[in-house]
Amino acid sequence: MTQQQSLTSQNGISAIEWRDGQLRLLDQRHLPARELWQEPDSAEEVSRAIRDMVVRGAPAIGIAAAYGLVLDAQAGRDLDGAYTSLASSRPTAVNLHWALARMQGVEQSPAALLVEAEAIHAEDLRQNRRMGDLGAALFDTPVGVLTHCNTGALATGGYGTALGVIRSANRDGRLREVYAGETRPWMQGARLTAWELIKEGIAARLIADSAAASLMRTGHIDWVIVGADRIASNGDVANKIGTYALAVLARHHRLRFMVVAPSGTIDMQMPSGDVIPIEQRSEEELLIGAPEGARAYNPVFDVTPAELVDVLVTERGVVMQPNTEKMTALMA
Ligand code: MRU
Repeated sequence: MTQQQSLTSQNGISAIEWRDGQLRLLDQRHLPARELWQEPDSAEEVSRAIRDMVVRGAPAIGIAAAYGLVLDAQAGRDLDGAYTSLASSRPTAVNLHWALARMQGVEQSPAALLVEAEAIHAEDLRQNRRMGDLGAALFDTPVGVLTHCNTGALATGGYGTALGVIRSANRDGRLREVYAGETRPWMQGARLTAWELIKEGIAARLIADSAAASLMRTGHIDWVIVGADRIASNGDVANKIGTYALAVLARHHRLRFMVVAPSGTIDMQMPSGDVIPIEQRSEEELLIGAPEGARAYNPVFDVTPAELVDVLVTERGVVMQPNTEKMTALMA
């Protein structure tokens, strides 16, 4: 694997590139300070890149995994091992398993696998643009928005899910103000969302995660807009830790709560959010600045019950107050 420094494309941000038989991943651990690219040579290296958060965000993880299989197919390696290693790289985002299942459904030759990986990548970008338009169309007047984590081009095949709605609303003059929670402990909001919004020229302010309630109370926020890592068949949503708190706060303040995710994030095998596996990451991520000997507990996702979700936006359409019946109809 080689590492090199480069600038992102002038035509929008893309964190995953396939060029001349080589996968390139923008190493998100170094943003915003440096734009370093990794060039993994095998599915095993892609698997490590996913585990170590070089590439992150549910759709982006699925896309990277698909290209990881192409790397092993090109090298003539055993694909069973590649599937197993990629499937175990992170537990919560179902897009990973969705993408691997799609790859398993085609001829296991390098050429056919590459066609499928590129299709998954291109479809994700198309779906994000569609969701952006569907979501933005729900705003009658310019709105104040709070978003969480990073759900933009970095987390997807481009444009973004929740951040895609924010992009489309900005383009259509339907955005009054944007606030991004910094998203402790990995700081996806502070490091990645702020970086994307500055590149896009969208004025936004970072807030400490704990400032959300006060901001809602003082009238700055009309909508909380977030992405998802897995949505159960009853509409429960697993997403970055802190999402559930924002949903509870939004309901208390009579604000609206929108989840934006492609149908590849919906797991109809999961009857409810209670059975979605929640990733626990290392204590060290939380212990920066804590005294020696301190212990931490670091679940990095939580589950928001469907009853707190006002709107689910997918590329298949918009679902108001999702429940099992509506989710079944959406996925039919
Ligand atoms: O731990 P991460 O950074 O991979 O978590 C990402 C999120 O929680 C996003 O909200 C989710 O994947 C949707 S991204 C379009």
